[in-house]
Amino acid sequence: MKNESILVVGGAGYIGSHMVKDLLDAGHDVITLDDLSTGHRDLLPGGTFVEGDLGDKEILNRLFSSHNISAVMHFAAFSIVGESVENPLKYYRNNLAATTALLSAMIQHRVKRFIFSSTAAVYGEPMEIPITENHPCNPTNPYGATKIAVERMLYDCDSSYGFKYISLRYFNASGADESGTIGERHTQETHLIPLVLKVATGERENISILGTDYPTPDGTCIRDYIHVSDLTQAHLLALKSLLSGGESAVYNLGNNHGYSVREVVELAKKVTGKNIPVLEADRRPGDPAKLIASSEKIKTSLGWKPKYENLETIIETAWVWHQKEAANSNMS
Ligand code: UFG
Repeated sequence: MKNESILVVGGAGYIGSHMVKDLLDAGHDVITLDDLSTGHRDLLPGGTFVEGDLGDKEILNRLFSSHNISAVMHFAAFSIVGESVENPLKYYRNNLAATTALLSAMIQHRVKRFIFSSTAAVYGEPMEIPITENHPCNPTNPYGATKIAVERMLYDCDSSYGFKYISLRYFNASGADESGTIGERHTQETHLIPLVLKVATGERENISILGTDYPTPDGTCIRDYIHVSDLTQAHLLALKSLLSGGESAVYNLGNNHGYSVREVVELAKKVTGKNIPVLEADRRPGDPAKLIASSEKIKTSLGWKPKYENLETIIETAWVWHQKEAANSNMS
């Protein structure tokens, strides 16, 4: 693949910053557009940075006119399920309306290759496990609804404008780049692994297990955790496919292996060597009992091979990052 100019929308966020690093390492020119509402400037590994909203037509016109952009990768979405239930219009405005503006600008400037961060939340309550891409999409919250609405919009843009896209439905993104230089940082942290590791660093006193009466062997929810660098490698394969004239497609990204919340806590204790006190709490609304992906389709079609299939290794990479973050916050 020759060097291309890639626009990464949301490149200062958790997954976006890992993507920027891997694109730069692969020799591409990267332009990041991020409004820093949830992203962090210091997490951006390099390339050109433009601060702004993905729905801002003037900025988009300027970007597409001044750079010869081959493809766009879009990570700039709000992604907290509970918040989407409390404030759905915030999600429709950013995840759907602003994405419509981005797609309009792309069509206007004849940029027709797009890689989209979608989610397991598009499926809703699973009818069968593992979940394949053919599983019906009945999202149970506004976050998932905005993502499936964008997927439908992408499908229609392909039919009408010959716009080519790959939509990647992530299961539980976790871990950090092996270099230890970037990782997961959310101002409002709701995710299990970072919260558990913040107990291990001493930043939090305990972890609440949100529901112990699920129909699973130990009563806690089961999730399929996938390393962030395996996600970004899948994006590179998707990019290669689109740049070589490949067709639009939708792929799941997970490890086809589920771990319960209690298993995650036990593994985190093993990796960190720390005591991690647990509280048992009520269920969080909208959490399905079990989500496990089938990722056979992307393995067969694009040759994706995850490097970090073992959750212990995934947690080890996150632990390196979280210790560093804790040390930095102690100094400031
Ligand atoms: N959990 C706890 N305690 C906590 C936080 C989480 O027990 O303090 C549990 C949750 O109930 C869930 C599991 O840990 O069972 C994982 O929770 P996360 O918040 O880490 O991840 P989710 O599975 O809720 O969400 C992820 C993505 C969403 C996406 C969803 C798809 O973060 O963006 O998968 O199902 F929508």
